Amino acid sequence: MTSPLEPSPEPIHVTRPHLPPLADVVKLLEGVWERRILTNGGPLHEQLEAELAGYLGVEHVSLFANGTLALLVALKALRLQGEVITSPFSFIATSEALSWNGIEPVFADIQPRSFSLDPASIEARITPRTSAILAVHCYGFPCDVESIQRLADDYNLRVIYDAAHAFAVDCHCGSLLQHGDLSILSFHATKVFNTFEGGAIISPDAKTKKRIDRLKNFGFVDELTVAVNGINAKMSELHAAVGLAQLPGIEAAIDRRRAVAEGYQRHLAGIEHLHLPDFNQAARPNYAYFPVRVDDASPISRDGLVDHLRSHGIITRRYFHPLIPEFQYYRSNASADPALYPEAVRAARQVLCLPIYPDLALESVEHISGLIRQPLSDRNDG
Ligand SMILES: Cc1ncc(COP(=O)(O)O)c(C=O)c1O
Repeated sequence: MTSPLEPSPEPIHVTRPHLPPLADVVKLLEGVWERRILTNGGPLHEQLEAELAGYLGVEHVSLFANGTLALLVALKALRLQGEVITSPFSFIATSEALSWNGIEPVFADIQPRSFSLDPASIEARITPRTSAILAVHCYGFPCDVESIQRLADDYNLRVIYDAAHAFAVDCHCGSLLQHGDLSILSFHATKVFNTFEGGAIISPDAKTKKRIDRLKNFGFVDELTVAVNGINAKMSELHAAVGLAQLPGIEAAIDRRRAVAEGYQRHLAGIEHLHLPDFNQAARPNYAYFPVRVDDASPISRDGLVDHLRSHGIITRRYFHPLIPEFQYYRSNASADPALYPEAVRAARQVLCLPIYPDLALESVEHISGLIRQPLSDRNDG
C-alpha cells in the first residue's frame, strides 16, 4: 500500500472501463459465428433489449450504436422543431443532437445540488417557438422530474431526458427512465454499463418503440417501403454480446462503485472549501461520477488542484468545463450569455470529477483523498 502522500506508481484515470469475463463474450460470439447473423436485430440484440427492459424496470428498450445517435433519433421521433431548452452543463453531444436536427438549443440554468436544469430558469426561457425540454440527469443525479413535467403540461411541451449518466438509477417512484416522453442512455466505454460503444432509447409504449426502430433502420417498414427519413443507428451483435455478458455482473459493479464513493465521503469529510456530492438525491444512485466542488474561497483553485493531482499521477476531469455555449460553434447562439446561467458558470469553474470505477482500490481512494486534503489544509493552517 502506498502512503497517502507518495506518488502513485501508475497513473489513475477518472475512469477505467468495466469489462465482463472474456470467456463469456467468446461463448456468445461462437453463436454469432454459427448463425452468421451479425446485425439488423439479431438474436443477441433482441435478447439484450429484453434483459435490459427487465433489469431497468421499463417496458420498451431500443438499442442503438451509440448514445448520440439515440439522442438524434429521439428528437426526430418526436418531430421536434424550433427551440428546445437544454442544459449548458453537459457533454457537447446533448446540444449537437439538437443542432443536427435543425433545432436551436436554448440554454437555461442548473440547480447547484443536482447540476441539472432549474425549472424556474426553464420557464424563463420559454417562447412561442419552444417545442420541448431536453434535460440531462447530470452525473446520474435525477432532474426535478415533477416540476419539469408540470411545466411541460402547462406549456404543451415534450420532454426528453438525456440519461446517458443515469443507467439503473431509481428515483422516489421507481426507474428514473420512466419520466418524460423519451429517455436516452449511453453505453459508451466510460459509462456504468458499456457495450464499448452503444446506447438506447426508452419508449413509453409499443407504438413509439416501433417508430424509433424504423428510424434507426433507414426508415424501412419492409423491403419496398420507407416510411420516414431514417438513419443507420443499429447496434451490432458483437456489441450486444458484450452487453449480455456484462449484465449479470452489473449489480456487483455498482456495489463496488458505492464502496469507492463511501471511501471518498469518509476520507474527504470536513475539509473546508471542499463540497462533496449528495447521492441521497436518488432512491438508488449508480455512483457513475464523484464530482467535488472547490469553492471560490479555497486556498487552492480547482485548476490548481487538478494540476497538483496530475503531478502525482491522478488524472481527474473537469466535467463540464467548458460549458457547451463556450464552445466556438455555440458562441453566437442567442442564449449563449453567461448572465443567463450563473450556476452553470460556477459549476464549470468549481467542479472536478475524481476517479471512480469498480476496481479502484480503496487504498487508492485513501491515497487520492490524502493528496486532496494536503493543499487545502496546509494553506489554511499557514
Ligand atoms: C450527457 C451525455 N450525453 C450524451 C452522450 C453521448 O453518448 P455516446 O458517447 O454514447 O454517443 C454522453 C457521453 O458520452 C454524455 O455524457
